[in-house]
Amino acid sequence: MGAEHPVLNGEAPDTIEELRQTRAPVTEARHLPAYYYTSPEIFELEKQKLFYKDWLIVGRVEEFPNPGDYRAFELVDEPVVVCRNAKGELKAFANVCRHRGVAVAIGSGNAKEFLCPYHAWVYDLDGALVSPSRPRGIKVGPETRQLPPIRLETWGGFVFINFDEKAPPLADYLDADDYRQSVAYVHPEDTVLVDTYSYELDCNWKLVPENLADVYHVEVIHRNSFGGSTYKPEKALAELVFTKYGWYKEYVSGTMAPDAELLFGPAPWLKDHPKGKQFAFSAFLRPNFYLFARADMVQPFVCYPLGPHKTRVTGWTCLPKSFVGSPVFDEKVAILAKFVRKFADEDSDLVRAIQRGLNSKYFVRGPMHEFESVIHHRINRYLEALHGNGEVL
Ligand code: FES
Ligand SMILES: [Fe+2]
Repeated sequence: MGAEHPVLNGEAPDTIEELRQTRAPVTEARHLPAYYYTSPEIFELEKQKLFYKDWLIVGRVEEFPNPGDYRAFELVDEPVVVCRNAKGELKAFANVCRHRGVAVAIGSGNAKEFLCPYHAWVYDLDGALVSPSRPRGIKVGPETRQLPPIRLETWGGFVFINFDEKAPPLADYLDADDYRQSVAYVHPEDTVLVDTYSYELDCNWKLVPENLADVYHVEVIHRNSFGGSTYKPEKALAELVFTKYGWYKEYVSGTMAPDAELLFGPAPWLKDHPKGKQFAFSAFLRPNFYLFARADMVQPFVCYPLGPHKTRVTGWTCLPKSFVGSPVFDEKVAILAKFVRKFADEDSDLVRAIQRGLNSKYFVRGPMHEFESVIHHRINRYLEALHGNGEVL
């Protein structure tokens, strides 16, 4: 233990005992202590140990088809702009002007260059300060001539960034968890984004993947959608393949559309699959990405903290490229878009309710059910990422 564990310092004996209980085998384990979901210190630790070290998914490559296409956003308190440069390469920069720090890109769209709204310094699509420009007359060193670059790589049509210059390449990060290999046969790279659903929840970010991994609640909350009489949590659990940091599984479930109807038919790569219309797949990637696939779509979700008690969730519906332009395409996409909002909202009330409980002075963490072994796996890998795997754990 050291200065880098602010919450543990001064509370060590109780905390270590509490964490030991969380790390016990699932049938003897208790959930995480409430402060992991409420404390600003834990949130700071998560930034340093997870979000500013790991590869983070920020979008799809097809959001940026042309040179100049860009999107500015905040990710875990850092302003970022992703854009396609004049050569057609995707780039990421800190959206922080080299003069006084104002964001130079706003919203999304297509730009030839980025004009800082404060004193009109201009940056090109490679983040380089355009010269001659307003800085004339002030001394500008080499670092001032370039917006701070952020590492960017792509896989499967997804755009990833990494705030850590020393992080391993994306391929190594994915392969450490067998992610490329386990996801390959749902072909995310052959799909195209047709709908983005992004919404805020008043809860800690960890509750979102925990809820998505929770087979225990499905028969209760989703009994009228996909958790009806055929859903068996024991079976859902048996289908799981645990990887070092996450898991994946192939299972039986209807697609995410009214009456589980395949509005466009099956994806070309799944048309002969033995599960047919009932093909379903999911794969979790640390720290916060959950890819779901069905017979006709890939539908990933990602969640980012906006603070200890606030989270932004984004769900992308991606369809095989070959579906694009088929009859009544837009109308069918609108049906899918409506459905994903309904299904996501079924869980939103619940995760907010968990957070309210966690905030209560009466809250005592409860025991885990064996159906929660996925949550147990995830929490344990999370604790190791936060605190190391040494004397504390
Ligand atoms: S803050 Fe950007 S030009 Fe001054
Ligand atoms: Fe759910």
